[in-house]
Amino acid sequence: MVVLGIETSCDETAAAVVDGERRILSSIVLSQLDEHRVYGGVVPEIASRAHIRHLDGIVDRAMREADTRYVDLSGVAATAGPGLIGGVMVGLVTGKAIAASTARPLVAVNHLEGHALSVRLTDGIEFPYLLLLVSGGHCQLVEVAGVGAYRRLGTTIDDAVGEAFDKTAKMLGLGYPGGPAVERAAREGDPARFDLPRPLRGRPGCDFSFSGLKTAVRHAVAGLTDGVPGTRDAADLAASFQTAVGDVFVDRTANALKTYAERHPRARRLVVAGGVAANGYLRRRLEAVCAAADFSMWAPPPDLCTDNAAMIAWAGVERLRRGLTDPLDTPARARWPLDETRPLRSMNEDGKDTP
Ligand code: KG4
Ligand code: ZN
Repeated sequence: MVVLGIETSCDETAAAVVDGERRILSSIVLSQLDEHRVYGGVVPEIASRAHIRHLDGIVDRAMREADTRYVDLSGVAATAGPGLIGGVMVGLVTGKAIAASTARPLVAVNHLEGHALSVRLTDGIEFPYLLLLVSGGHCQLVEVAGVGAYRRLGTTIDDAVGEAFDKTAKMLGLGYPGGPAVERAAREGDPARFDLPRPLRGRPGCDFSFSGLKTAVRHAVAGLTDGVPGTRDAADLAASFQTAVGDVFVDRTANALKTYAERHPRARRLVVAGGVAANGYLRRRLEAVCAAADFSMWAPPPDLCTDNAAMIAWAGVERLRRGLTDPLDTPARARWPLDETRPLRSMNEDGKDTP
């Protein structure tokens, strides 16, 4: 089994070739950082144009580095959502074209499923497990019982955690992308200097909230002399913010571990995935909560936490093995919840999902 994966749902143009033995034969990720940096965030129209410009070359490179011919492929997996619709369409239509011209099956992959299954590629983890999915667009706790078998225990009621990292970085003048910059600055900072809120801490359930924390950072910045953070202020605020996120993660995840363990007392595994799972401090906090609850914790290496196509190709391997393929008229979707596994909605003329 050899699968080509394509990922274009945000600002990474990526292609990879993965085989059924969990080998990553190639994984190319072209980050559009420079194209978006001047705007301080991802501009959807610029992103989709850049995907159009680069994707052919990236796919070609992935195939060459993997030393794989198109006739050797067992199938083609492309992200079909959720994400920025223009970019998703570019990747999905490219995947369809390769699948059609090589007479190979298409797998239309949910990007979140890519993150959810990535640890099975890197560590061969068995089902079931509890998943903490933390990225730029999502923050959820999900019971993963199998491929396509997801039960959401909690989600954010407002912002995603990665978004809170990115906005905080912007307010602190730490640049873009925000997550790694906040983590770096926090290393030099005093986490006790600013008293920031821990939204929903101590409440029952497994939901998250980050907008109040983001607002508190804005007020703290406004309260500084001149309202402009110096290096010391930025480091202290980054550390205070990251510690607050850590406290929230620990509290919410502890509730989810309890709920999950009632259903699966012998499969005590927590998997952390998505871009924010690259954060070393947060990983250590989660490891501690897992140790206390007699759970093992798993996370892909940092470059497979952030967006990549190896996880999409791997989701393709998992689905092909189970005979799960998709027709060539499968629509691209801006929204596509993980616990609703197959597209139930069709796309209207504007390229938007319609209920
Ligand atoms: O999974 P991902 O690459 O894209 C989405 O699917 O959203 O996640 C990107 C998010 C961004 O918000 C980025 O700031 C965050 O992950 N991120 C981090 C770190 N590295 C990336 N957040 C905190 N600490 C990091 N080291
Ligand atoms: Zn992602």
